[in-house]
Amino acid sequence: MMKEKNLLCNAPVGVFDSGVGGLTVAREIMRQLPNERIVYFGDTARVPYGSKSRETVTRFSRQIVRFLQLQEVKAIVVACNTASAYALDELEKETDIPIIGVVKPGARAAIDATHNGKIGVIATEATISSGIYKRYIEKTDTGVSVVEKACPLFVPLVEEGLWEDPVTDEIARRYLSGLIDIDIDTLILGCTHYPLIRSTVGKIMGEKVTLVNPAYETARELKGLLEKEGLESEKRPELGTELYRFFVSDAADKFQKFANSILPYGILSAKAVNIEEY
Ligand code: DGL
Repeated sequence: MMKEKNLLCNAPVGVFDSGVGGLTVAREIMRQLPNERIVYFGDTARVPYGSKSRETVTRFSRQIVRFLQLQEVKAIVVACNTASAYALDELEKETDIPIIGVVKPGARAAIDATHNGKIGVIATEATISSGIYKRYIEKTDTGVSVVEKACPLFVPLVEEGLWEDPVTDEIARRYLSGLIDIDIDTLILGCTHYPLIRSTVGKIMGEKVTLVNPAYETARELKGLLEKEGLESEKRPELGTELYRFFVSDAADKFQKFANSILPYGILSAKAVNIEEY
């Protein structure tokens, strides 16, 4: 019995995203939960999710959850805002292990951060059109109002490595000007890629606006959840054991290069799998 419990606690956490962006969430889990093993899946063959329909994003997410469950993960983090917005409710109903997304933790952190009750959200077109951040925040705290803005060009700019670049600056100014005019004091970076251009967004919004990165809160929520369920891994795996494993649906080398530029250490390898088979 005890052995079974240990086996379960030492099982990895599954983390998935439409591609590389969810590494910002994985990075935060690595920082806050150093004892946990991770199996990461990036759907690099089918990215972006942010311009796709609810049905398609849900179908893709189901396949990935099936893949992760075959890797015997003990819990799943939907690291993608778009998949959290479109598919999480369905996945929760269908999955018999704990599963959390990034939207609610990010929304709760913003509610805690705001003083004037005006919150902005920037995200993909899909996340914004789902209305999930606005609905959840305004229902949780009726004194808060939310203004949302889709920023579809941010994802390709980040993937091109233009994190600090005049082009990104110019586009960010256009996207964010409407949010500056309405005096928000808190802005949710509601897409996995946006923390990587945090300094550009912060410079434009000014010091008075608190930027919320849902990745940080998601890792905290995962910690609380694993503790509550008695699932936390007690000690850091021995050196030489595979603490983190990475899978993608295409272009493993490109993924590995990007991952190495944002994770605190070099990843050994990323393996390509045919996710349509799951
Ligand atoms: N990971 C997605 C998100 O957080 C951004 C990239 C995409 O559109 O797939 O919404």
